[in-house]
Amino acid sequence: MSTGKFCTFEGIDGCGKSTQLARVAERLRGAGTPCLVTREPGGTAVSEKIRELLISPDNKGMCSEAELLLYLAARAQHVREVIKPAVDRGETVLCDRFERATFAYQGGGRGLDVDAIRGINGFATGGMEPDMTFIIDIPVEVSMERLKRIGKGTDRVESAGASFFERVRNAYVCAAEADPYRVKLLDGTMGIDELTDEIMGVIACAGG
Ligand SMILES: Nc1ncnc2c1ncn2[C@@H]1O[C@H](COP(=O)(O)OP(=O)(O)O)[C@@H](O)[C@H]1O
Ligand SMILES: [Mg+2]
Repeated sequence: MSTGKFCTFEGIDGCGKSTQLARVAERLRGAGTPCLVTREPGGTAVSEKIRELLISPDNKGMCSEAELLLYLAARAQHVREVIKPAVDRGETVLCDRFERATFAYQGGGRGLDVDAIRGINGFATGGMEPDMTFIIDIPVEVSMERLKRIGKGTDRVESAGASFFERVRNAYVCAAEADPYRVKLLDGTMGIDELTDEIMGVIACAGG
């Protein structure tokens, strides 16, 4: 049995990750490809508990280092309990955020040392890396408008302010420039259908 593909969806809030994940999963399943949809932080009982700590507005005093380690603790459990077993069973795993979010938010946004993040992230994942990453890029103002329209945007991370999200967005764009083969930068202001077509095209080219 062949191993499955591990695809991750990244980008600032409101860029369309959840929208595209659901549509891509539906198309893949329709074509007979078994796939598993999951998210970070989360995806396991332990990791969802860590997620609650991370997004709770009660935890405003959390330092950036503690935040990083909690994200990575959640990831360590998620990789071993869910992602790797599914890929080994031959399923395509579609994950809402993964390591690129850590580099973008904790590296770009919070300013933590990127080499340190790389080291602990590698420890947390046991070396498991996405085969393909889709970064859906939108301007910060578009993100704010979309979140406002759907009544979202008040959790601990989302309340960080526009300049924080500019740094996060830039870090995402740099990630795509640094590894264009595995990291695809998509224009998230395109139509929803066009974006799905583009993502499906990339997945098809990669053979699965
Ligand atoms: N390409 C797009 N163009 C316009 N609106 C979009 C697009 N993609 C998503 N949206 C809308 O933006 C909002 C946020 O989308 P969502 O998929 O929840 O983003 P994310 O999961 O990245 O936070 C939703 O209301 C969604 O319908
Ligand atoms: Mg979402």
